[in-house]
Amino acid sequence: MRLTVDEERMLAGEEGHATQKAMQILVALGKIYDAERLVKVSSVQVSGVSYKNLGDAGLEFLSELAMDGRARVKTTLNPAGMSLTDWKSQGIESGFAEKQLKVIEAYGRLGVEITCTCTPYLAGNEPLFGQHIAWGESSAVAYANSVIGARTNREGGPSALAASLTGRTPLYGLHLMENRRPTLVVDVQTQLRFPEDFSAMGYFIGKVARDGIPYFRGLATAGLEELKSLSAALASSGGVAMFHIKGITPESGIEVSSIESLTFTSRDLGEAAAIFNDEGAPDFVAVGCPHCSLKELATISELLDGEQVKREFWVCCSREVKHQSDEAGYSRVIEKSGAKFALDTCMVVAPVEELGYRIVATNSAKACHYLRNAGLKVRFMPLEQCVVEATRSD
Ligand code: F3S
Repeated sequence: MRLTVDEERMLAGEEGHATQKAMQILVALGKIYDAERLVKVSSVQVSGVSYKNLGDAGLEFLSELAMDGRARVKTTLNPAGMSLTDWKSQGIESGFAEKQLKVIEAYGRLGVEITCTCTPYLAGNEPLFGQHIAWGESSAVAYANSVIGARTNREGGPSALAASLTGRTPLYGLHLMENRRPTLVVDVQTQLRFPEDFSAMGYFIGKVARDGIPYFRGLATAGLEELKSLSAALASSGGVAMFHIKGITPESGIEVSSIESLTFTSRDLGEAAAIFNDEGAPDFVAVGCPHCSLKELATISELLDGEQVKREFWVCCSREVKHQSDEAGYSRVIEKSGAKFALDTCMVVAPVEELGYRIVATNSAKACHYLRNAGLKVRFMPLEQCVVEATRSD
């Protein structure tokens, strides 16, 4: 792989130990994927933040890099395993909290913004069309490539951090236009009315598309909430990092006549929605996977107005969006009902299975997928129904 003089200096350790280690990671990755060179990135989103996933080895790796490493481009952080301020009220035990706070402290020393959200594009990390970025949260990766038209591969925690410390990533995969072409056409022959319908369809199609690029036809509209739900679901059942929607996403004006196609019907939608429907009454309700937008918080506040929740109800969002919600008056209504904002974290990366809950109701197919893998029962339902479950008397 061809390196510039500056990159050679980094690799030789002339800019510090952490930068050298980061450059070694990128060069190794570039060799594996046959990248010709590195490309400068304008922003990074780092995943691998929850101590639940990192463990002591991850914490040690971060602490070592934090000795002399420093982010060179705007770098934001994925959710952690708990709220950084209200972890006690979430039922998190102090041993876990102590380690999680050390992880966050190390990221802080590295110059990473402690945003702790999987929707960085709603919290100040907003790349532009055509920009190269290195993002490491699968739902945000699919959103950035597809909806914004920025260019990123699905980075792992170490490679995203390496991109942050050097300001570069290997030029391969979705950074190259020729790899952003669709591999599968999906003719949607049913009406999708709610963001949850997009989530169900995404989960269904992700299994078929695997790591390909689906091209959806037949969708009249899709707003931010629908597109973030679709992004998360496609990336969870499959390895989808990009999709197109005819007439909606910015790179969808492309010829697709010669590729494989399938239909998505009302029957498929019914089947998709029924995948996550375990028996039993939910004892935990959580919404905001990916983290809620302001519009979703407005809806939740409207639904909860005058109601009291009867079981644990988490509303997951970023601090930035929560701040906007405070100003709009939505937060007061939500909190008055007894629902809890889960900031900095989410129902998947927090150790929910250790908090004593057994059956989770949520409006996200991605959350259902991971919660079931963690041994919990799940019920997939629309946002409105989640609120009904949370406020239902036994
Ligand atoms: Fe975000 Fe957690 Fe879902 S990180 S996409 S809310 S699993």
